[in-house]
Amino acid sequence: MEKILVIGCAGQIGSELTLELRKIYGDSNVVATDIKPADKEITEGGPFEILDVLDTHRLFGTVSRNKITQIYHLAAILSGNAEKKPIASWHINMESLLNVMELSRELNLSKVFWPSSIAVFGPTTPRENTPQFTVMEPNTVYGISKLAGERWLEYYFHRYGIDGRSIRYPGLISHKTEAGGGTTDYAVEIFYDAIREKKYECFLSEDTYLPMQFMDDAIKATINLMEAPADKIQVRSSYNVAGISFSPKEMAEEIKKQIPDFNISYNPDFRQAIADSWPKSIDDTVAQQEWGLTNSFDLKKMVEVMLREVGKKFS
Ligand code: NAD
Ligand code: SER
Repeated sequence: MEKILVIGCAGQIGSELTLELRKIYGDSNVVATDIKPADKEITEGGPFEILDVLDTHRLFGTVSRNKITQIYHLAAILSGNAEKKPIASWHINMESLLNVMELSRELNLSKVFWPSSIAVFGPTTPRENTPQFTVMEPNTVYGISKLAGERWLEYYFHRYGIDGRSIRYPGLISHKTEAGGGTTDYAVEIFYDAIREKKYECFLSEDTYLPMQFMDDAIKATINLMEAPADKIQVRSSYNVAGISFSPKEMAEEIKKQIPDFNISYNPDFRQAIADSWPKSIDDTVAQQEWGLTNSFDLKKMVEVMLREVGKKFS
């Protein structure tokens, strides 16, 4: 019987992934933790603890006491916020991963999931259909921490046999929990402003193409990756996942089909330079071939679901 620890359960991904893991493994077998309180659905639906992943002693105690066998480590400072506090963000993103990997080694855990990001790529990477293996020279603190994290994951696999698995998520779009301070956040914020105010000022320019993915597809990919037989997982750093690529202008046009008087304006800020250093589109054929990655939401379907679900919050 697997017993799972989720670190960062209150965030954009954790708030949905925790519930999905509880459906699969049973409520009492998924221990949810975060440094801050989470939704009632999580705190009352199964075990929940306040935990700072940097507190090695407590982390060790939580894992031992609950007889944890797998960890999903989701706590991190995202790209936009990390640029505001580079050293503190490096510390959180790196120390937390090393804590989790050392613990996994000492307690012989069966698997670890840790997400990487399209931020591992940089301005010298080919930006169209970015390959799995290519030039990686990120120029953001978030991207540097994710690239270093990928190297550590691969190191722990080869040196200690730790079965760490990872996806380079594109920007994730969801309606349950708002986005946590990244460069792709516009693609979530836009729905709240479209519904409340029928207008949105975008912090990226109209023609900024980025890879994005709807949360349902991201969760499905994560679980498929974690459940795949170990011999299928040839990439021990992190897998490219493409999702769908579009620009703010294209997303606004799709929203206008349902809210005809919606207006978008553009006022790019410091996140424009981050977006300009990231891929426009991703090649994820390696993940498709090795563990059967699929994507089912296109832009139209995603916009329909987002408008409907975010709309319910204000009706
Ligand atoms: P988020 O910011 O929404 O959630 C992160 C959670 O971690 C928060 O609830 C926060 O309270 C918690 N946390 C922060 N510091 C902590 C600490 N010291 N101890 C315990 N918990 C702590 O982020 P997210 O969007 O859910 O992202 C989760 C992971 O996925 C991150 O590693 C992120 O880099 C990665 N990722 C996210 C996206 C995306 O678009 N959301 C894309 C690529 C990669
Ligand atoms: N959505 C994330 C960010 O913008 C990508 O890792 O930071």
